Amino acid sequence: MYEWIKALHVIAVIAWMAGMLYLPRLFVYHCDAEAGSTQSETFKIMERRLLKAIINPAMIVTWLSGLYLAWVGHWFSAPWLHGKLALVLVLSGVHGFFSRCVKNFAADRNTRSHRFYRFINELPTILMIGIVILVVVKPL
Ligand code: HEM
Repeated sequence: MYEWIKALHVIAVIAWMAGMLYLPRLFVYHCDAEAGSTQSETFKIMERRLLKAIINPAMIVTWLSGLYLAWVGHWFSAPWLHGKLALVLVLSGVHGFFSRCVKNFAADRNTRSHRFYRFINELPTILMIGIVILVVVKPL
């Protein structure tokens, strides 16, 4: 059972990360689309669907399956898991921030530049590298 849940965990992680890497790219292009234009309205639909249909459910499955693995595998006292949880909490915070950005774009209230979104785009990548090293190499 543990191995099956781990497979589910990795599948959910891939879906979550795919969305977390793609969504800020949409924000970058959305910045250049004029408010009210057909292009801007299309970006709004793409952003909302990506968030609601993929990113949100994938995050929930990642958390539930990860906590199950930690519980059943008796990992809660392992230092690598503490480090991993700290990074995953930051990643979840970035997720919350992206969710607010989707709402702002939907209401044509975005005030940030495409440079900002290009920069913030790197954050999930950096966090993901740290998380994967912590869980696979277990250096702590
Ligand atoms: C949401 C909170 C999370 C918790 C509580 C959690 C916990 C765990 C646990 C306990 C394992 C099993 C480790 C083992 O059997 O050696 C695991 C496996 C794994 N986790 Fe997570 N995880 C979480 C989120 C994430 C995220 C966000 C990522 C990647 C960005 C990730 C990537 C992985 C990978 C790749 C494995 C497989 C490691 C292996 O088989 O060697 N996890 N996770």
